[in-house]
Amino acid sequence: MAALARSVLVTGSNRGIGLELVRQLAASPRPPQHIFATCRDPKGPRGKALQELAAQHSSIKLVQLDTVNLPSIQGAMQAVGYHLKDQGLNLLINNAGISSHATLHSLDSQEMLDVFATNAVGPLQVVKVYLDLSGFSCLGRCSPVGIRNFCHSWSQGREGLSCSRAAVINISSKLGSLGLCLRVPEAPMYPYRASKAAQNMVTRCLAAELQDKGILCVAIHPGWVKTDMGTEQALLTVEHSVRGILTVLASLSQDNSGAFLDWEGNSLPW
Ligand SMILES: NC(=O)c1ccc[n+]([C@@H]2O[C@H](COP(=O)([O-])OP(=O)(O)OC[C@H]3O[C@@H](n4cnc5c(N)ncnc54)[C@H](OP(=O)(O)O)[C@@H]3O)[C@@H](O)[C@H]2O)c1
Repeated sequence: MAALARSVLVTGSNRGIGLELVRQLAASPRPPQHIFATCRDPKGPRGKALQELAAQHSSIKLVQLDTVNLPSIQGAMQAVGYHLKDQGLNLLINNAGISSHATLHSLDSQEMLDVFATNAVGPLQVVKVYLDLSGFSCLGRCSPVGIRNFCHSWSQGREGLSCSRAAVINISSKLGSLGLCLRVPEAPMYPYRASKAAQNMVTRCLAAELQDKGILCVAIHPGWVKTDMGTEQALLTVEHSVRGILTVLASLSQDNSGAFLDWEGNSLPW
């Protein structure tokens, strides 16, 4: 089986789905050469499981990245760029997210804004900084040495889009689907649902704008997964969900540009 990608970056990879993505990528028969496992505090106690995993796999590089902190995103992307030198990053997985169970009665505006910042603005900022540093959207602006060719593989043309070439995968949620608007009375979750709907629009806009630059953009719903966010009551183990996600990622082509899929590859309504 071909490698999914030569280089992969995962946000929020110290626990839950992000940690399992890194674990399964590193353990795959043809692992990526570079797995940039990013999280808010890679050296601290919250990064312990990731530190232990990185000690077993030389492909895993720990990088500090807080998706709501612009200097942190810039620092992470520069570190990745210097590491890859003239090779491009193939696959960027925006996984970091937070939940909120606020109801119509309990929600306050600051909570709503915080959830938006992480779930909708964060993934967009990560992509934007990446593109800026790679020179895609800042033609004529000076790129630091070593970063200029950062996006080597993110070249022109929609033909042959794939995760092994250049892709942005936004981990979304079925709860953000306007078409489904699932289980609202039992799980109102206004901030979370609205932020994931906004993230979905970000994915659609990125897909439309970037496909001619050779970049595939797709939203993936991981299922209801047993993590800190999904709780023990969830239906899927994290291993099962991530195995499905990686199988779906390996199958993506230009036909999936701008798609919203679940962990089994089924299409979801926006
Ligand atoms: N679990 C489910 O059932 C489910 C269902 C649908 C969609 N999803 C989506 O799947 C993704 C992963 O969820 P999960 O279940 O793995 O959640 P989780 O177990 O709560 O883990 C969330 C991860 O995101 C990180 N994170 C949060 N804010 C961050 C920030 N500002 N910068 C960097 N990292 C940040 C957390 O880091 P810290 O440890 O530093 O907090 C943690 O690593 C999320 O986008 C979520 O919305 C999950």
